Amino acid sequence: MELDPEEISKIRARLFEIGPDQFVPEMLSEMNPLLVGTAFGLNPQLEARFGSRMFLDFLVSAIVRFYHKRQKLPQYNTIDDVAQLLQQSKNVMVITGAGISTSLGIPDFRSKNTGFYTKLLNAGIYEPEEVFDIEQFDEDPSVFYKLAHGILPDETRYSPTHAFIRLLQDKGKLQTNYTQNIDNLEERAGIDPARLIQCHGSFATASCRKCKHQVKGTEIFPYIRAQQVAICKQCTAALAAAAPPQKKKKKAKHNFDTDSDDNSEDDNIPTAGVMKPDITFFGEQLPNTFFDRLAETDAKSVDLVLVIGTSLKVAPVSEIPNYLPHHVPHVYISREPIEHVNFDVQLLGQCDEVVWELCRRAGWDLKHEMIPEGFGVVVEEAEMEKGRGCRWVVGGTKRETAVKEAEKVEEKAEKIEEEAEKIVMGEVPWANGDSVA
Ligand code: OAD
Repeated sequence: MELDPEEISKIRARLFEIGPDQFVPEMLSEMNPLLVGTAFGLNPQLEARFGSRMFLDFLVSAIVRFYHKRQKLPQYNTIDDVAQLLQQSKNVMVITGAGISTSLGIPDFRSKNTGFYTKLLNAGIYEPEEVFDIEQFDEDPSVFYKLAHGILPDETRYSPTHAFIRLLQDKGKLQTNYTQNIDNLEERAGIDPARLIQCHGSFATASCRKCKHQVKGTEIFPYIRAQQVAICKQCTAALAAAAPPQKKKKKAKHNFDTDSDDNSEDDNIPTAGVMKPDITFFGEQLPNTFFDRLAETDAKSVDLVLVIGTSLKVAPVSEIPNYLPHHVPHVYISREPIEHVNFDVQLLGQCDEVVWELCRRAGWDLKHEMIPEGFGVVVEEAEMEKGRGCRWVVGGTKRETAVKEAEKVEEKAEKIEEEAEKIVMGEVPWANGDSVA
């Protein structure tokens, strides 16, 4: 049971012509649902496994998801198209992730072998994201304090990619930088706070989980480096001043208390709160400015989206490309290709090198101490399935390196595509399912 590519294109075109509400009944009255499903990546064998009622539910949700997923724009295909877009655009949105700071020695999260989560896995922490889980933190903050030194930023430097975002700002083109990074290096690079949304908060400040007293993040850095839980000084002072002095807990599990509502006998004895960096943990809401700025300003006026150094696996940031008007060109810059979001062009390589090359092609001068004198790169096209966004590999200074990198990218992309198909077929949990909100 298979459709040829032309039939698939026709079916999909019909969906975009009439919308899912009309499309679903029309298609189901004309065609076998199993066949329709193949046009949207659904394996017909799912019907045998889950029954026809459930299969129809899968089909409808696959159709709706496909309809809302951004499609590649046919007119933007090459690195020169991107350079031209840079020159022409006035309101650029830049979405960044941990990859823009790795050249400074700060690890990203999910890169194999080098990512922070791999290090945690190697240290026997099998659910590494739990280190940033708010319930886990409130239960036992020592886990976070033992491990967070591995991602503590050196606040004195910023990367060439940060310098590129600053250059966009200096040219009056930066609309907003949505960063998922918590290293606060955008501030160091001089990004205007009014144009910066720190989607996942940052290490810049820290607050007491109990009394909300806020301090500069650097005040708790020595505790993080010493792998000791930082206790709120304000709570401690208030407790010391309180009279009569409280009896001390005899068998406290920890020397901190994060839950003021707990009314067990032991926990009625007041204790100081724990300081937490103002990072948005899993289970916490993103700042309101994220949603307000996205909906009220950016979705209406952005004319170019650059996504740099993020695997785009954590919602709601991962949903931004599907949320923005689909006619706005989207470009992806990272080491690894991406499959679960459709970009117009993917520029793959070290982001510092990619943005340098983009600037060169746009006729701009990107200056940064990490860019050596006489620097140059080679750009090679990597093959990919039609309609999925063109990929260009920026592979250092040698052509052989670029060609090898392009071959690796093609292999990786195939693997990711296979995984994505399994996901659509319900074999593994939805890859894009992490959410901090
Ligand atoms: P990830 O580690 O998931 O993704 C980083 C991406 O950058 C990967 O695709 C890397 O291949 C790429 N990369 C790394 N170094 C690069 C370089 N020098 N040049 C180009 N690309 C490079 O990190 P994020 O997407 O930022 O959440 O992760 C998102 C969120 O997940 C984080 O904010 C954090 C984490 O859980 C919280 O802390 C709440």
